[in-house]
Amino acid sequence: MNLLLTNVHYTSLLAGDEGYAVSAPSTISIRDGVIDRICHQSEFNMSLEDFDTILDCQGKLITPGFIDSHTHLIFAGSRSQEFEQRLLGASYQSIILNGGGIHSTVQATRLASEEHLIELALPRLDSLIRSGCTTVEIKSGYGLSFEHEIKMLRAAKALESHRKINVHTTLLAAHTVPKEYQQRPDDYVDWICQDMIPYCAEHQLADSVDVFCESIGFNLKQSERVFQSAVKHGLSIKGHTEQLSNMGGSALAARYGALSVDHIEYLDLPGVEALSKANTVATLLPGAFYFLKETRKPPIELLRRHNVPMAIATDVNPGTSPFADLRLMMNMACTLFGLSPQEALRGVTNHAAQALGKQNVIGQVKEGNCADLAVWDMSHPSELSYQIGLNSLYCRVVNGRLDYV
Ligand code: NIG
Ligand code: FE
Repeated sequence: MNLLLTNVHYTSLLAGDEGYAVSAPSTISIRDGVIDRICHQSEFNMSLEDFDTILDCQGKLITPGFIDSHTHLIFAGSRSQEFEQRLLGASYQSIILNGGGIHSTVQATRLASEEHLIELALPRLDSLIRSGCTTVEIKSGYGLSFEHEIKMLRAAKALESHRKINVHTTLLAAHTVPKEYQQRPDDYVDWICQDMIPYCAEHQLADSVDVFCESIGFNLKQSERVFQSAVKHGLSIKGHTEQLSNMGGSALAARYGALSVDHIEYLDLPGVEALSKANTVATLLPGAFYFLKETRKPPIELLRRHNVPMAIATDVNPGTSPFADLRLMMNMACTLFGLSPQEALRGVTNHAAQALGKQNVIGQVKEGNCADLAVWDMSHPSELSYQIGLNSLYCRVVNGRLDYV
């Protein structure tokens, strides 16, 4: 399948503060899912007969397909009543300690079949697709048993056969200690390390392993054991770290070569230095910050000063971020955390690609990269962080194939 896009303006993101470079009218040729050639319109000299489809983009803007590098897209049930409780003063932590929170979603997710989980996830995925996504990371973590964690990972991967989307799966069995193990959390960690991670690696069910390193999740020692097992079995690692307190989870994850550490509102200078040293991405989740009415912001200025790449993701989940819109997150990252629209664009493209270990394949409009693109009815990329709720996506290209939404 060969596709030719003519009359496009594409964004190339330059380093530092040089701003966006929006190209002159260009032509992008795509062969077998790969960006083959990008050239100035006037330099185009290939035979049009070589192409199965030719799309005149009439001067529209092209960006890399967006990458949502942190989601909990697969779940059943709703937590709207907990939202009401929190508005009346209950804390997120007290709700989980009283058996609700993540446990409530675990209960609902265990009861749902794989097919039902897929059905429930599709509208959420469609919303992410409308916000320009071509790749979505999806975590398990609401099963917390062999049968149900595997069911979640299978449902996540199966979404690729329902929509034009690339899915990166992450095992998050270390999300919280399930009720069956409440008195023996270390036994639960043993099970994750000895059974769950080896099985997922052997059967290629997960690309990465994640841990919620927090007082209501797993302590440093337990988190380290999970990271060790993941590394031993060849899986990349990620962390939910420094979300509600500073435990040192980010620095620990960085020591094990984590692709990213996510949330990081409570990250301190030694943590930032550790990320910088390990080239670990700092993933900002402004939806969870906003929805939990958190007041402590991630240390953006320190991250900039230490050249730590910042990704932005939805964290879409029923408890802390019920928002399936990556462009809303770009807007929130600008308005709540002070990112520039240019940083926000990097956060959902090349830095998000790095957060999945795929920076050489996706996240840039570049010859040789996978042809995952988003075509927008806009004239300047700053509009991506500016407009919310208007469907300005014209179409996507996913693995070299056109898709209209
Ligand atoms: O990313 N912090 C832990 N995990 C999710 C929330 C999970 C839930 O409350 O269901 C998060 O915020
Ligand atoms: Fe999360």
